[in-house]
Amino acid sequence: MEKISNYNKYLSYKSGRLKIENIFLDDIALKYGTPTFCYSVNQIKDNLYKLKNSFSKIKPLICYAMKANFNKGIVKLMSKNNLGVDVVSKGELRESLECGIKNNKIVFSGVGKTDEEINFALKNNIKQINVESEEELEEIGNQAKSLKRKINISLRVNPNVDALTHDKISTGRSEDKFGISEEKVEKVFRYHKENRYLNINGLSIHIGSQICKIEPFRKAFKKIRNLVLSLKKKNILIDSLDIGGGIGIIYDVNKDKIFKISDYAILVEENFADLGVEIIIEPGRFLVGASGILISKVIRVKKGEKKDFLIVDAGMNNLLRPSLYNSKHSIFPVKAGDKKIEYDIVGPICETSDIFRKSYLLSKQEKNNLIIICSVGAYGSSMSSDYNLRGLANEILVDGNKIL
Ligand SMILES: Cc1ncc(COP(=O)(O)O)c(C=O)c1O
Repeated sequence: MEKISNYNKYLSYKSGRLKIENIFLDDIALKYGTPTFCYSVNQIKDNLYKLKNSFSKIKPLICYAMKANFNKGIVKLMSKNNLGVDVVSKGELRESLECGIKNNKIVFSGVGKTDEEINFALKNNIKQINVESEEELEEIGNQAKSLKRKINISLRVNPNVDALTHDKISTGRSEDKFGISEEKVEKVFRYHKENRYLNINGLSIHIGSQICKIEPFRKAFKKIRNLVLSLKKKNILIDSLDIGGGIGIIYDVNKDKIFKISDYAILVEENFADLGVEIIIEPGRFLVGASGILISKVIRVKKGEKKDFLIVDAGMNNLLRPSLYNSKHSIFPVKAGDKKIEYDIVGPICETSDIFRKSYLLSKQEKNNLIIICSVGAYGSSMSSDYNLRGLANEILVDGNKIL
């Protein structure tokens, strides 16, 4: 029997009513309507401390990958905890500065930075740009020269490692659009060596997201370590290594098995502690994924030919992951109940793929009941759209008995 606290420590039933931290979800639904994304501040803090405390030999710079969730309250929370961010657009860069993230802790990633975005990054003196191609580097060099701004550059290496995750979120194989091959890296360093405006001082990797086995990390880290050492022999010195994000989380306790975060930290330290370089990590999902739930209301129960459909007011426009990645999020009723009925839990959108779970056991539901979808803190609201003009879901943060 899966326990709700397995998804988020701050979810529990009290007298048959579900609460997050100290606030009942039916009260939240009354005040904020449905669907509403709700994030537990303390779950985010726990994840952050767990990650930080796993390291004993090094103190990596944690740059939150804000594509996972750019809710301002969350970005401000990261800022208060002295984190940096990994951004992938001018919009994310601007918002992170507005939320108090220091410019010298901002890393700019992404395969398609526009001229305008490069210009904005240079003018804001950010920590570094993670460069994905020789063409991009050339363009950054030209702009940096005309603006007379020197910028740190980290070359994103494509290590050709399969992250063993969903095909659509695998980014480190040679057929993927990301990064520069290992073989080309030395040439790029040499070509730009004399450039006064480009300080190419780092390497970066990111092999994929929702990685559940440690093995792909082991392979990729070893490759990048060997690359640093072989460059060193050729007098090319690296002082910063950005090892990306990708740490998986539990979506289904009965199926998903993730390596221990302490094992990840040991692996990082084994590979990099002796290199004497700054280590940057870019977790997104690990920090915020489990903190979030989506509260949704039952529109009606439809008796189908072969099964019962539970039609709820959250749809794939709010949470795209099940349709896009076939992800299986756990779902719980807000009012506790024993009776188990199999439902296909679906949204109201005019797409067959607008389905959260098939043949899912739940207590008997009726119109206006509330349910929650778990582990939606990452790539939930940030990927949502106004498809079918249904509007965006509300978003709130809960901290103890306060709503932020
Ligand atoms: C370059 C880069 N860094 C970090 C992340 C964050 O990944 P995750 O949320 O799996 O930690 C991503 C996600 O796609 C990414 O593309």
